[in-house]
Amino acid sequence: MLRFDIISAIPALMESPLSHSIMQRAKDKGLMQVHLHNLREYGLGKHQQIDDYQYGGGAGMVMMPEPLDTVIEKLKSERNYDEIIYCTPDGETFQQKRANRLSLKNNIMIICGHYKGIDQRIRDMHVTLEISIGNYVLSGGELAAVIIVDSVGRLIPGVLNDESSALFDSHQDDLIAPPIYTRPSEYKGLAVPEVLLSGNDALIDEWRFNESIKRTKK
Ligand code: ADE
Repeated sequence: MLRFDIISAIPALMESPLSHSIMQRAKDKGLMQVHLHNLREYGLGKHQQIDDYQYGGGAGMVMMPEPLDTVIEKLKSERNYDEIIYCTPDGETFQQKRANRLSLKNNIMIICGHYKGIDQRIRDMHVTLEISIGNYVLSGGELAAVIIVDSVGRLIPGVLNDESSALFDSHQDDLIAPPIYTRPSEYKGLAVPEVLLSGNDALIDEWRFNESIKRTKK
């Protein structure tokens, strides 16, 4: 069982994407748990403040260390975390290999930043892995966290119906997946490649492999 604890100021952003299709199935099967923690509940004072101006000046608010540290310490006291991930555009670019590795873990914490980001001391004290989902800036880490959970969750053994199907995804072997077709065998004058209708598995495998190579080269 893989447990995710996600810390966010806007957890509602992640509810729907993690409550349908394969993610919901993973949860229903007891193979994955996702716990969302609302950082606001750990905010300071009567306004439950979580962000403040940055030292040294400059535009943009920074997420304060105390609310984050409080919730992180609370979670850490409850279980051991294999990774504490901070979603940030300056992190390691997320790749399939990293998703594969994370799918073998038991407890993963994900911190979603907002505004300018989080106080550096939280990164120094707690974060073990910084992940960017691409070289562009999102308004917060929530969508990145959803992408991490989705790509990792579907790899947990038993989540996908056809156990082997994730092995043949694009990127698993650095090859792009071959073209795929379903019925009808001809649509608007475009026919499905003959070999796929042949019933000859060896020939089909060979065709798919060659198409993968062609697509990857291109
Ligand atoms: N937060 C803001 N932009 C991000 C990105 N590209 N990847 C991960 N987290 C982010």
